Amino acid sequence: MSSRKPVIAGNWKMNTTPAEGRELAAAIAAGSKNHPGVEVIICPPFTGLAQAADAVSGSAVEVGAQNVSSEESGAFTGEVSVSMLAGLATHVIVGHSERRAMYCETDEAVAAKAVTAHATGLTPILCVGEDLETRKSGDAVAAVRGQLRASLDGYTGWGSLLVAYEPVWAIGTGAAASPQQAQEIVGELRQELSSLAGADAAEAIRILYGGSVNATNIGPFIDRPDVDGALVGGASLKPDEFLRIVEMTARLY
Ligand code: 13P
Repeated sequence: MSSRKPVIAGNWKMNTTPAEGRELAAAIAAGSKNHPGVEVIICPPFTGLAQAADAVSGSAVEVGAQNVSSEESGAFTGEVSVSMLAGLATHVIVGHSERRAMYCETDEAVAAKAVTAHATGLTPILCVGEDLETRKSGDAVAAVRGQLRASLDGYTGWGSLLVAYEPVWAIGTGAAASPQQAQEIVGELRQELSSLAGADAAEAIRILYGGSVNATNIGPFIDRPDVDGALVGGASLKPDEFLRIVEMTARLY
């Protein structure tokens, strides 16, 4: 726990039709208005951004995209540019491990996306995290610090950045990292941010934990000094569960 405002963000991944997303977003907007001390962000798929943004308008809930191109426009079939997100999203997830692993996104590509997003006023939610093999080999700290540094190459928007530590082995497995493991890496990430951005900027950046977070296990993560919230996958699709995570976070701050 820290003096930084906590963030609970939901990554809906490739789920929800526009109509389902509207309903989910409306439920989250209604349920989270009693917890103004928690920043709530929902990240629907591209096709549901407009409906979700409409459903949360007038509330404090913010909307993020799950990906963005680093290109402005042109012959990039299937891609979505930052300017296409204008008015629909304030945030964008970059470098999620599923995109890194399944769509071959390199640190360099992720950094280009973060830089482009920031340049047009979007706040990147930059994801980093080690895979199981790296964890087992004892190299997690160095790997994740290196990933963060390389994924922020050229980035200068330190006042507008969220970082999410998502160990690959904890995503969608039901086997979350322990709060101690999360704190260890998140603390290291803050040190890395300090060397990149300066101590004051690093102190202000919110760093989230992600990987099998639910309403039952959120508390001990939030209690850690450097963990400022969570990026939630599966549980973000269930409004009651997601709102309980928000409520637990509000209670602990
Ligand atoms: P789960 O919460 O389903 O493990 O997903 C985490 C995640 O990948 C959020 O981006």
